[in-house]
This record gives sequence, C-alpha cells and structure tokens, in this order.
Amino acid sequence: MAKTILVTGGAGYIGSHTVLQLLLGGFKTVVVDNLDNSSEVAVDRVRELAREFGKNLSFHKVDLRDKPALDKLFSSITFDAVIHFAGLKAVGESVQKPLLYYNNNLIGTITLLEVMAAHGCKKLVFSSSATVYGWPKVVPCTEDFPLVAANPYGRTKLFIEEIARDIYRSDSDWKIILLRYFNPVGAHPSGHIGEDPRGIPNNLMPFVQQVAVGRRQALTVFGTDYNTKDGTGVRDYIHVVDLADGHIAALHKLDEDKIGCEVYNLGTGKGTSVLEMVAAFESASGKKIPLVTSGRRPGDAEVVYASTEKAERELNWKAQYSIDDMCRDQWNWASKNPFGYDTSDSTT
Ligand code: NAD
Ligand code: UD1
Repeated sequence: MAKTILVTGGAGYIGSHTVLQLLLGGFKTVVVDNLDNSSEVAVDRVRELAREFGKNLSFHKVDLRDKPALDKLFSSITFDAVIHFAGLKAVGESVQKPLLYYNNNLIGTITLLEVMAAHGCKKLVFSSSATVYGWPKVVPCTEDFPLVAANPYGRTKLFIEEIARDIYRSDSDWKIILLRYFNPVGAHPSGHIGEDPRGIPNNLMPFVQQVAVGRRQALTVFGTDYNTKDGTGVRDYIHVVDLADGHIAALHKLDEDKIGCEVYNLGTGKGTSVLEMVAAFESASGKKIPLVTSGRRPGDAEVVYASTEKAERELNWKAQYSIDDMCRDQWNWASKNPFGYDTSDSTT
C-alpha cells in the first residue's frame, strides 16, 4: 500500500520539489500551505510534472496555526509521516519582526506536533538549517558541532530542534529526523518549478537570477576581504532536487526500528565562493552579471560547508548535481519564468 505523507509548506521552493520526488517515488502526498510565500500554481505544475502520479496529490490551503482545520485533516486522512517545511525564512525580516517569526514558526510547529500526537502520527522530518552552526571555527561542519542562533529566524530553528529532542525524550514512540540544509539553489531540470521569492531576494542565487533577467541592475557582493581564495564568502550550494531526494532517504530511515531523534546535514561537502558562483552562472546563462562590491553583511559567516559523511553512511544519500548543473537548471527556470509563477507582476 502506498504511504501517505503530509507535507507542510509543500507549495514553497523546497517543498514543491520534494512533493514531486515523493509522487514519482509512489507516495500519496497531501500538501498544506497558507500560500503566504508561495503560489498554488507551483502545486499545479508539480501535478503536471508527475503525470500519472499527479492524482496522488491533494492541496489544502490551511495555516498550521489553525488547529481545528489541521485536526479535521488528520481525522479524515491517516498519515504515515509528516515532512514539515512550513515557516517564514527571511533572516532580515526576522530581526525586524521577531514576534511574527516566533508566532508563525514556533506556534505553527507546536500546533502541528500536538495534532500529530493526538492522532498517533509520530514520524516527522523537519527542515532545519546550517544557520544553527553560526560562525563555525573549523569546517566541514559535523552534526555534533556546538549550536548557536544568530537571529530570531535561526532561534526558531534551534528551538524547534530542542522541542523535537524533548518530545522524543518524553515519548520514545516518536521518530524524528532533523535535516540541516546548507544552501539550496537551482530548480527542477524541466524549468517548470523553481524558487520565486517575493520582493527583493535576500539570498545570493535568486538575486543573481533576477539580475540576469533584467529585474535588478547589479549584484552587490557582500564582503571581498574574507580569508578565502578570492576574498568572498564561501558556502555549500546544493541542488534543490538533491535536497528533495534527501527527504525521501529520510522517510525510508524512519521505517527503521529505533531511530529516535536524529540529525543530518544535507549539503555537498564542497565550498564555493560568491565570485565562483557568479562565474558559473554567467557561463550557464551567457549573461554578464554586473557587480558592485560593498562591506560584509552583518551576521555573515566566512566559510560554511557540510560534512556529508553521516548522511551518506546512515541515509545512503549523496548529492549528485554539480555547481554547473545548479546554474544551468536555475537559468532554465529563470529564462522560462522571468517573473516566477506570476505572469502579471513585473513591478517587484
Ligand atoms: P518557502 O518560503 O518557499 O516555503 C515555505 C512555505 O511555507 C511557503 O509556501 C509558505 O507559504 C508556507 N508557510 C509559511 N508559514 C506557514 C503557516 N503558518 N502555515 C502554512 N504554511 C505556511 O521556503 P523554502 O526555501 O522552501 O524553505 C522551506 C523550509 O526550509 C523552511 O522551514 C526554511 O526555513 C527551511 N530552510 C530553507 C533554506 C533555504 O535557503 N531556502 C535553508 C535552510 C532551511
Ligand atoms: C543566509 C542566512 C541563513 C539562512 C540561509 C539560507 C544571513 C545572515 N544568513 O545564509 O540564516 O539559513 O541564507 O536561507 O542572512 N551574498 C552576496 N550578495 C547578495 C546575497 C548574498 O554577496 O546579494 C553572499 C553572502 O554574503 C554569502 C553568500 O553570498 O557569502 C551566500 O549568501 P546567502 O545566499 O544569503 O546564504 P547564507 O549567507 O549562507
């Protein structure tokens, strides 16, 4: 019998790619999303891309904090597991509006966990972030590094990780996998789904993409005096389809007998600088990306990349795509959808 997975935030960037991989992998998939930072068009496109498996996808516009609505869903469908992506993720906004972030991310998650417990669904995969490693003194980051939070967004990730560990300590029936994502970029190779941020992008590659399609004039490079190969910050960029497949691997892990509450890095183990990413995108797109240099962005780390050993060993998962693949697929998505899912909006 096909397993049924609830995917919160499944209309979003990483969620939509994961839902597609779930469908293609034979899972029945139920998406809940309040569409605060996404479009239902993404769900429709996933359904089309999944072809005959598209019938196994259903969508519910629900806010996670709406407990009665969530409870009703769990009363009508028996879920084998939940993949929990839903949350707000803009670091700068979280500094300006901490209560919004604590309300949405923490209350949303607590409500979800309460409803799961009430319905006896105790298998969870949660989207954590490499942000919990803060400013690592050495790299690669292993899962046992000390954890810090640099801002309210990061604190919601850290708090939810701790909540998950407490829940397991209190009730060993729970099986929880915390996935710490490094820097997801790229898009599905079809070019039909991809990242579509609202407003001015905070992250590097969505910004580069918008410069390439003429929506922004130049990329500001934050910091050229880091102790790195070319002075710019180094990160572990991972193709979003590899990341999505990491979730399928985590679901299989949840089927094992005793897994408790485990944490895994999802990255490639390779560090790439800002200038290297720009060069790779320029050659994938044939577009010149004008650069403006500025000082370091407050809060930024110098070099962050993952140790992937634990995920490779225990999840039997390893990222496959290269930086050139990431840039090729991101450009394919961008050139086909210069204004994302919204064909009418050319103003942001
Ligand atoms: P996204 O904004 O594209 O997707 C999140 C989705 O959650 C959106 O569709 C949004 O509408 C929905 N959502 C938010 N609050 C909700 C609520 N209260 N109820 C229902 N739906 C709600 O972001 P993403 O990049 O796909 O990220 C997914 C998860 O991964 C997030 O938890 C994010 O913090 C985490 N993460 C992302 C990155 C990254 O760089 N993209 C890195 C590390 C961790
Ligand atoms: C940022 C967040 C982090 C979050 C992650 C994924 C901060 C301080 N950190 O991390 O909490 O988990 O995104 O969502 O916001 N860069 C530029 N110009 C730009 C944008 C970025 O030069 O316009 C540089 C940055 O300085 C960095 C690199 O590009 O060196 C990557 O930046 P970004 O994509 O924002 O990711 P992180 O800094 O890793």
